[in-house]
Amino acid sequence: MLLRKDFPFFNRASCVYLDNAATTQKPRVVIDRIAQAYTHDVANIHRGIYRHAERVTDLYENARGQIADFIGADKKELIFNAGTTMGINSIAATWGSRNIKAGDEIILSVVEHHSNLIAWQQLAQRNGAIIKLIPLAADGALDLSVFESMLSGRTKLVAITYISNVLGVATDIARVVRGARRVGARVLIDAAQAVAHRAIHVRDLDVDFLAFSGHKIFGPTGIGVLYIKHELIDALDPFLFGGGMVQQFDWRAPQWLDAPRKFEAGTAPVAEVLGLAQAVDYVQQIGFERIKAHETALVGMLLDGLVVLPRVGVLGPVQQLRRQGHMVSFVVDGVHAHDVAAYLDAQELPIAVRAGQQCASLLHRAMGIHASVRVSFSIYNTAQEVAHLLDVMKKLCADLR
Ligand SMILES: Cc1ncc(COP(=O)(O)O)c(C=O)c1O
Repeated sequence: MLLRKDFPFFNRASCVYLDNAATTQKPRVVIDRIAQAYTHDVANIHRGIYRHAERVTDLYENARGQIADFIGADKKELIFNAGTTMGINSIAATWGSRNIKAGDEIILSVVEHHSNLIAWQQLAQRNGAIIKLIPLAADGALDLSVFESMLSGRTKLVAITYISNVLGVATDIARVVRGARRVGARVLIDAAQAVAHRAIHVRDLDVDFLAFSGHKIFGPTGIGVLYIKHELIDALDPFLFGGGMVQQFDWRAPQWLDAPRKFEAGTAPVAEVLGLAQAVDYVQQIGFERIKAHETALVGMLLDGLVVLPRVGVLGPVQQLRRQGHMVSFVVDGVHAHDVAAYLDAQELPIAVRAGQQCASLLHRAMGIHASVRVSFSIYNTAQEVAHLLDVMKKLCADLR
């Protein structure tokens, strides 16, 4: 695929990189933007009153506007932080601590990444709240009819992943929001796996909180986005305290700056934000239709090759994956996932995949397996790479006989 040439990693790649759900490679435009930011755009923004700092402050705030547009949010609703994990923890620490009390219920699902599980477990342990888990249906997708039966006046929050980082299929967010609204519950979306693969519009989805990480969408590590709906953001207390978030310090009643700045204490991650804005621009220029067409073609090819291998079992609803997936997780009967990954990595042209519980231990338990192998695609992967993986998988299965 032509886009591959945009990524310097592939000039000297030491492996076939199929671990894109963990993190993506970076295009030259993003690398150059970060280098430029460290060359020309260094200043401590929102503080310096000289023109250079003001210029960099404008770059940063324009980037906020651009990324807000990308997800259909208002600038004021968009907070920069370190990533999905930090975003979810922040909501648990502020909105959660204030609004979720003993006996209240938080609905999560069995497919949640530990990021969207442990933060709520910890809150529930502190506050005496109750966690309910949406189970899998017979087809391997989330059972949203069970979800609907769980809802009650005690439900305060539904926190759910948009796309599972193991099964690769999307949750019907509109249905989740409809259910939550009926009982007056808030909705948080973990968009870590969705953001690089489908258009997200927070206003259309009508969610209350949404978090994603820059590194999964061709941007830098250490930068993420937390969206908080306008009707909630003003009343919400900050969760980090320090420079750049207070209007007037007072021992008894400090006055916070308006959102989003009251949530961004400390020196801002300028180069990371500018790099992320460049990554978003890169994705917008490609367009999600093209991204989806490419990734589903690779998923289809991989599924066709895997389903005929006798010992291989693909996880999740395969037909849904074919339509919309960017990853495939599977098990090989009689071989630990780590051994499969080590075998793939030991090839003359090594193949890099994820293996283990993929930070989704509940899901593995629910499926009755210890671990799985995950192959995840991005725009730069090729049919030749899938063919190479399938050849090696055939060899592995033949060696087992
Ligand atoms: C579904 C999901 N949620 C949350 C995360 C956590 O993202 P981060 O480690 O960037 O905070 C990941 C990362 O793999 C993920 O796949």
